[in-house]
This record gives sequence, structure tokens and C-alpha cells, in this order.
Amino acid sequence: MLLDGKRLVITGVLTDDSIAFHSARIAQEQGAELVLTGFGRAMRLTQRSANRLPDPPDVLELDIHDEEDMKALVADLEQRWGAVDGALHAIAYAPNDALGGNFLNTPAESASTAFLTSAFSYKTLAVGLRPLLRAAGGGSLVALDFDNTQAWPLYDWMGVAKAGLQAVTRYLARDLGGDDIRVNAVAAGPLSTVAAKSIPHFEVFEREWAVRAPLGWDVTDATPVAHMVAVLLSDWSKMTTGEIIHVDGGFHAIAAGAGPS
Ligand SMILES: NC(=O)c1ccc[n+]([C@@H]2O[C@H](COP(=O)([O-])OP(=O)(O)OC[C@H]3O[C@@H](n4cnc5c(N)ncnc54)[C@H](O)[C@@H]3O)[C@@H](O)[C@H]2O)c1
Repeated sequence: MLLDGKRLVITGVLTDDSIAFHSARIAQEQGAELVLTGFGRAMRLTQRSANRLPDPPDVLELDIHDEEDMKALVADLEQRWGAVDGALHAIAYAPNDALGGNFLNTPAESASTAFLTSAFSYKTLAVGLRPLLRAAGGGSLVALDFDNTQAWPLYDWMGVAKAGLQAVTRYLARDLGGDDIRVNAVAAGPLSTVAAKSIPHFEVFEREWAVRAPLGWDVTDATPVAHMVAVLLSDWSKMTTGEIIHVDGGFHAIAAGAGPS
């Protein structure tokens, strides 16, 4: 199996719609051992979702901004496995006034919160897990991106944060390659999750995808994204780093939907 024996940390499982939930499911089906992380009041939801996985994994606390959580996570993983082979970063948050068409009025603090939680946090996770990834002789980090090479309706400062996440991916790839740690991101098409539903008029994305994605797109099916996450976490992507791979039905390559035929 693709991930036989891999020891992986999966962040960002909230509900069983979460992209991280499906990534965890596929990773287990492919032979990986997992630890999930959750945080704050949502820990109970994460725990409930963990119990719906084929082999319910332990859930540890990680607010990505809390150094004590990171220390405790690393100490647990050291005890448990002594090394880690990879991790999924599936963490994003933007305050309401940073989304939804309010771009010109968003206060700096809200834009900064979006950046710190959704982009800088990839660095935090990478640096926290680095000793354990080195102990494994190298490994693979994967983040979840939403393509941001163009301006979107409504996505606002989260789009700016995602542009930051892409850059963070490349800089981490530069600085961790010497440890044989690969750092990549998967740019997913829109999926109906709690985070997505917090974007006002999310259906705009769904509508656009329906006309532009040459392969079509199902906003309720995260499995194709989870498959690509598994490939990037596996030894089948040994020479790929600093890369943003689109799993979006081909939407990003097409300028406009087909005209009348
Ligand atoms: N849903 C989409 O359309 C879509 C498309 C492309 C990329 N993504 C990205 O996928 C990732 C996962 O989002 P999702 O759509 O599965 O939604 P989700 O709401 O299920 O997951 C978001 C996760 O971020 C976590 N999080 C927020 N703040 C955190 C913090 N301070 N510390 C630790 N965790 C924190 C939440 O607990 C939650 O588990 C995000 O980076 C999102 O931007 C989503």
C-alpha cells in the first residue's frame, strides 16, 4: 500500500466533511498510522469525527498559535513513535470582516489574523515537527491551498493569505530540502465544508466550476483531493518539493466556460 508504515500527523479535522477527514480516511486505507490534532471548543467535534474513521486515531490538542500545545504534541509523538514521516496542514481562518467583498474596509488586524492562521502557521507546523521528521530520515509536508493567482469574488484577504501560503511552501521547501523534507501544497477546487460555508455566497464558486472545469467538479466529494494528499505524503513523490498541485477538475487552466455550441 502507498503509505504502509508511515507515521502521519493530520491537522484540521473538524467534521466528516473536512478535507482533512477524507485525507485521514484515505491515508488509513493506504496503511498509515495517524495522530489527529484539534483545538479548543472544537476538540469534541474532532473527537467525534475521529471515531468515524476506519481505525479511530488519538486526537491531541494543537492550537497552532499556542507554543505549549506544540511542545506537548512533539513530546507525545516522541514517546509514541520517536519520529514522524509526514503531516497535513489543513488550517485556515479569517475573521468575517476579512471576507465577503469587504476588501477595501478590512482592518489590518483581521488581515493579519487571516495570514497568521492560514499561512504563517505552515512554518510553525514545519519547524515544530522538524526534529521528528529528521529522526525519520526526512519526510513530507502537505498544505491545502485554494488557487489565488487571480482575484476572486468574496475571497478577499483569505486569497491574500493563500498567496502567502504558496510562498511559504516554496521558502520551506528551500530551507528544509537539506533535511530531505519535502514541502508541497494541493490547490483544491471548492468543497462544501465548515470553512467554505463561512464564505458568504460560496455557491458562486460552485456555479463557476460547473461551467469552467473540463473534468467537472463535485463540491461534496473530497476524495480526489485526499488521493493527491496521499501521493504527496508517499515515497512516490520523492523528488517533488515547493510545488502547488491543482486538484480542481482543470479549472485553473481554462479562461472561460464554453460558449454556445
Ligand atoms: N473547502 C474548500 O473549498 C477548500 C478549497 C481549497 C482549500 N481549502 C483549505 O483546506 C483547509 C481545510 O479546510 P476545510 O475546507 O476542510 O474546512 P474545515 O472547516 O473542515 O477545516 C478548517 C480547519 O482549520 C482549523 N483551524 C482553524 N484555526 C486553527 C488554529 N488556530 N489552530 C489549529 N487549527 C485551526 C479548524 O479547527 C478546522 O479543523 C483550509 O486550509 C482551507 O482553506 C478548502
